[in-house]
Amino acid sequence: MSGMHNTPLKSRRVGFYAGTFDPVTTGHLDVIERASRLVDRLVIGVARNPTKNPLMPLEDRIACVKEVLPIVHARTGAELVVVSFDSLLVHAVREHGATLIFRGLRVMSDFDYEIQMSGVNRRLDDEIESVFLMASEGTQFISSSLVREIARYGGDISEFVTPETQARLLACLKQQKHTIKT
Ligand code: COA
Repeated sequence: MSGMHNTPLKSRRVGFYAGTFDPVTTGHLDVIERASRLVDRLVIGVARNPTKNPLMPLEDRIACVKEVLPIVHARTGAELVVVSFDSLLVHAVREHGATLIFRGLRVMSDFDYEIQMSGVNRRLDDEIESVFLMASEGTQFISSSLVREIARYGGDISEFVTPETQARLLACLKQQKHTIKT
């Protein structure tokens, strides 16, 4: 009986795309869209990541990712969900029934880090496969920290984030400035 239930679930390909998303950028959206064309369900894992001391609270980072999912779903048909996690990546991947970890590769320097990370993750769980997608042209130089820095100094970030993310990020920066002053 249980086999009957397992078969359809097993045949569904589930991927996991993790990051701190502080904030989510058009570079991340590129990876989300392309990864979602390769799976039936893509889980986007927003890492709490306190060691990175994120500027945006977890709730804002999640909201910014959630906002774009209907657009991606309409284009790719994949089921998309956002979760937060505060554990080893492979544990979160297992917990959400995924077998693939998607990673975006931009510049050569990403490669060293990614090779180390995929090696460790494979040691931790060899049934989970890492899949690397080369960043599309035009998104290879984007990073969340650069976007934060441009915004902090009043530069235009509209090319790198959605209007809603821009608004939330600017509000967080304002709040931070206010907290520093008081
Ligand atoms: N487009 C735009 N930016 C991209 C990108 C892309 N395609 N791919 C990566 N980036 C940027 C991110 O914005 C981030 O920028 P920042 O450093 O300026 O903030 C940077 O590249 C690093 O991204 P990423 O590799 O996703 O790191 P992260 O810190 O956002 O998330 C986790 C890393 C959550 C996946 C990782 O810390 C993790 O797995 N944590 C869980 C603990 C664990 O399992 N550890 C052992 C793993 S070996």
